This record gives sequence, structure tokens and C-alpha cells, in this order.
Amino acid sequence: MLSAKPYLQSACIRPDAAIDYDTYPYNIPAIRELGRLEFHPDVTFFVGENGSGKSTLLEGIALALGYSPEGGTRNFQLATAGSESSLHKVLRLARSYRAPKDGYFLRAESFFNVATYMDEVGYLDSYGGKSLHARSHGEAFMALLTHKFQGKGLYLLDEPESALSPNRQLAALAAIHRLVEDKSQFIIATHSPILLSYPNAKIIQFDGGGLSEVAFEDTEHYVVTHDFLNNYRDRLQRLLAG
Ligand SMILES: Nc1ncnc2c1ncn2[C@@H]1O[C@H](COP(=O)(O)OP(=O)(O)OP(=O)(O)O)[C@@H](O)[C@H]1O
Ligand SMILES: [Mg+2]
Repeated sequence: MLSAKPYLQSACIRPDAAIDYDTYPYNIPAIRELGRLEFHPDVTFFVGENGSGKSTLLEGIALALGYSPEGGTRNFQLATAGSESSLHKVLRLARSYRAPKDGYFLRAESFFNVATYMDEVGYLDSYGGKSLHARSHGEAFMALLTHKFQGKGLYLLDEPESALSPNRQLAALAAIHRLVEDKSQFIIATHSPILLSYPNAKIIQFDGGGLSEVAFEDTEHYVVTHDFLNNYRDRLQRLLAG
């Protein structure tokens, strides 16, 4: 039987697009060497060093799908207005014959949003609680996953782990799995080794050479975290001695 998933099958840059590879975002190796990026029917992870282009590509895909740059919530509208790249205009997306019934674009809790928070600090302080703010963000995200996401959806998430404790990251993984079993597809930019362990997934590594598929245990996230936790006294000694 023909499967409705993946709703989003692949992305490439239109061959007829006039592109200046010396300017942002086309000067980012991962964008320049995008080729034809094929998505996993369940979960596709974007991993890579800070600045390697994960958010740029995720946002380009989201905008090409019709999301607004501020994401599925309106909280960050001011911070992001006008800062999006032109990538979405030149992306060609291949989609399923069946459209998802639900969807969400969750922006990263970083970079743009730091500015928003800076703006909001006065307001937050007058209410006496940064930690309340941080905690409420984690809880808000879990509520999003478990209540707002309806299933049969296409969900684009940028660093969803940023507000979550390790236990909540495990809970998020279980929630993602339940949604996958209910015919959902995810594209997730992440630095979380916990999320990356999800088995029904394809991990796309962003680096100076462009994009490549990588196994979970070969990701830097797994290797570095695993090594550090197993040898942290020794690693710390060396790190701090320098
Ligand atoms: N509006 C912009 N104009 C010019 N350069 C930008 C703009 N936004 C991002 N960049 C640059 O593009 C590169 C990729 O940024 P991007 O946010 O996509 O990285 P990322 O892989 O998501 O990183 P992180 O893991 O830190 O979130 C970075 O070098 C960044 O400084
Ligand atoms: Mg990012």
C-alpha cells in the first residue's frame, strides 16, 4: 500500500535559481552542497557544529511550507521579523500525495530568542523569576508535544531539548514516538544525544564538506558525551590544566 509518509520527501535548490554562492545563506557549505536531501518517513535529525546551517535550512523548509518565520507561536515575532534568509524562495520540496493534518514549526530557543529575552528581562525581573520563566518554557514545550500536537502531522523543531531536563528529554522522546506511530513526521535540529538515540531516524551531519548521513554512535554528540561521562575526572583535569 502506498504510504502517506513521508509528507516531506526531499528538498533541493531549484536548478534554475540564480544564486550567489558568496553570500548568506548560500555560502554555508551545508546549503551550497545541499544536493537532494531525502527525509526519513519518521524522524530526520540535523546535527552539526554551531553555525553549520541547521537552523537556516530548517527555517527555509518551514517558510517554503508556508509557516511564518516566527514559528508556530507568535511569541518571537518581533525578534525574527525580517531576519529570515531568502532560501525558502529557491527551495524545491517534494511532498507526499497526502498533506499532513497537523503541523508546527518550533524555533530554536537560542540566538534570535536571546535578544527577545534580553528585551523581556526587565519585565521578568519585576515578576521576580527567571527560573520561573525557564521552567515554564520546558513545561510549555511538553504541553505542546503531548496536547497541541494532534498526530498525522509534520513537525519542524529547532533544538526542542533546550528547555528540557534529561528526564523530560526522555519523556519528549516517548511523546515523539507516540506521534510517529500516529503517522507523524519530524524534522529536528538538535544537540541532544538523548533525542538522537531515537532508532526510527536518519541523522544528517552538517559540516564544512556539506551534508552526510551518520550513525548515532558516530555522532560527535554520542562520542564526546560518552567519553566525557565515563572519564570526566581525567578529562576535566586535562581541560582545566590547559
Ligand atoms: N541573517 C543572517 N545573516 C547573515 N548570516 C547569518 C544570518 N543568520 C545566521 N547567519 C550565519 O549563518 C551561519 C549558520 O547559522 P545557523 O543559525 O543556521 O547555524 P546552526 O547550525 O543552527 O547553529 P546552532 O547549533 O548554534 O543553532 C552562521 O555562521 C550564522 O552566523
Ligand atoms: Mg540553530
